[in-house]
Amino acid sequence: MSSVPEQAFEALLAEDRLFPPGEALRGQANVSDAGVYARAAADPEAFWAEAARELHWFRGWDRVLDWTPPHARWFVGGQLNAAYNCLDRHLSSARRNKAALIWEGEPGDERVLTYWDLHREVSKFGNVLKGLGVVKGDRVAIYLPMIPEAVIAMLACARIGAAHSVVFGGFSAESLRDRINDAQAKVLVTADGGYRRGRVVHLKAAVDEAVKDTPSIRHVVVVRRGGGLEVPASATDGRDHWYDDLMRQASADCPAEPMDAEDLLYILYTSGTTGKPKGVVHTTGGYLTQVQATARWVFDLKENDVYWCTADVGWVTGHSYIVYGPLANGATVFMYEGAPDWPHRGRFWELIQKYGVTILYTAPTAIRAFMRWGPSWPDQFDLSSLRLLGSVGEPINPEAWMWYAEHIGHGRCPVVDTWWQTETGGIMISPLPGITSTKPGSATRPLPGITASVLNGEGSDVRAGFLAIPKPWPGMLRTIWGDDERYRQTYWSKWPNVYFPGDGAKIDDDGYLWLLGRVDDVLNVAGHRIGTMEVESALVDHPAVAEAAVVGKADEIKGQAIAAFVTVKEGILITDALKAELRQHVADKIGAIARPDAILFAADLPKTRSGKIMRRLLRDIAEGRAMGDTTTLADPAVVARLKTEYEGKES
Ligand code: PRX
Repeated sequence: MSSVPEQAFEALLAEDRLFPPGEALRGQANVSDAGVYARAAADPEAFWAEAARELHWFRGWDRVLDWTPPHARWFVGGQLNAAYNCLDRHLSSARRNKAALIWEGEPGDERVLTYWDLHREVSKFGNVLKGLGVVKGDRVAIYLPMIPEAVIAMLACARIGAAHSVVFGGFSAESLRDRINDAQAKVLVTADGGYRRGRVVHLKAAVDEAVKDTPSIRHVVVVRRGGGLEVPASATDGRDHWYDDLMRQASADCPAEPMDAEDLLYILYTSGTTGKPKGVVHTTGGYLTQVQATARWVFDLKENDVYWCTADVGWVTGHSYIVYGPLANGATVFMYEGAPDWPHRGRFWELIQKYGVTILYTAPTAIRAFMRWGPSWPDQFDLSSLRLLGSVGEPINPEAWMWYAEHIGHGRCPVVDTWWQTETGGIMISPLPGITSTKPGSATRPLPGITASVLNGEGSDVRAGFLAIPKPWPGMLRTIWGDDERYRQTYWSKWPNVYFPGDGAKIDDDGYLWLLGRVDDVLNVAGHRIGTMEVESALVDHPAVAEAAVVGKADEIKGQAIAAFVTVKEGILITDALKAELRQHVADKIGAIARPDAILFAADLPKTRSGKIMRRLLRDIAEGRAMGDTTTLADPAVVARLKTEYEGKES
């Protein structure tokens, strides 16, 4: 378990503060009957079928679950449409003129789209996509800033039965290109730019670079966003189009395509333990059932809530809990383009006050940054509208949990720490705010209808070991796009027919789960998954580098920071300029989120006699710990030398 040292486990387990559900929620929450756990456990299929009936189905299912390990099919034979469930079915009620999306751009521009507005925009863009030749089953890549068009484009794909592959706007041209090529996307939807900390991020420039080598792309649709960027819209043989030109001519009549429950809804790429990101495949019926239900249970979404999830739509949290989960519930979603510290460190609190946000869902890395900036920032604003706080993306340390509860929730708001993954589609382990007594730092228990245990490598129950999900669940990934063998290997080969998420966990005497971070070569940097191999490949791609080993190093704000040990080729001069160049090289290859925090040049890397790099020792060195067992090293002197070097020149 790379990221949490043993002392931290013990400290976590010594955590005995218990927070029962507050008065405001007891008996009033969407889920108030604790009997739900037993009911779900007694008959999980009946339980999930009941949840699925909250959706609109064009055709009912014949069978709830068909489980042929490791492949599950949920709601077999059923037909529905995700966009119809997020939009059309709200139009026949008072919700049709309710705000679906309240948006603010970083420069302060504002937009409100009612359910009716959003339905119209999505329908028009669905027709635009059809006009560009997109048909059911095609893939559409989306590379956009946090603007309403990101939601519109996703739902338009779902409406016409195309799958979206959203690529986070912070990824590089090269990462975008690889994802487009893997999914064989036909159309790319992007913007001229977006705003981040007062600067324009030139997305279209990255797109132009990427599409030089993406033969499947026939059209690029460009949303006009970034302050006066001059982008030649039709410079390339009719390939590029301005979004607003196409929308002006599009009809708003676009019937929602009936989709099989198991039809592809989207692909989302995530880092794994090899250099190549995995295209996680989500289908329609089970996924939508789980995100709709969990959004209602965990966030206790009510008709008048203003719900804000601060994730980017480029990550799974944005897919499930900005778009599909809340909109399927007919909720009002607040969406913000910018960073929390621009133009000042009270920006989030200012927005909560301005829009009366009632539910806030954010990440521990942000909470730790808020802690460092101090309570004087939130204290300047009226946060009394808030009634529930959520956390996601990485383990939340008890201090950050307490700070969040006290300084943002003012002791009034329950905190729900939600554990899940890109692969699980929806929340798996989390308190239910009307039922569960919380302990700071614990995601508590699996949700009703979900199973989880802590196992050792042999598959026996233990108190500390690997998190395991023994039974299939509706929102689970169905495979890895184009690589079912990798799907089997990555998730289903550790134990027979039990899902392996790649996380360490402990279970306490009350049956509460404590998630401890990744146990594989995947880092969690500021809540973002980054494969060490991806960063290593990027480094080795630089002409000066002979070999590289990347490890995570504990970081107060980001959880983990990236430390890279690099050996250079013969004759290369080691300079600070080279260090800067290598860091930038990684950012260019993958994206700024993967830029190493520390680079250390080494004469050699510690290896076993069979030539395997011993990352465990590198982690010890990077974190300044006493080194573990070095007896299997081919040359123990290498590591001693490295340690002296690192302690001398860490940067
Ligand atoms: O290690 C776990 C951590 O984030 C990983 C999943 O990352 P990703 O697929 O990018 O999805 C992030 C948002 C759902 C997990 O394997 N993780 C996520 N939430 C938590 C967490 N670790 C501890 N506690 C959490 N609440």
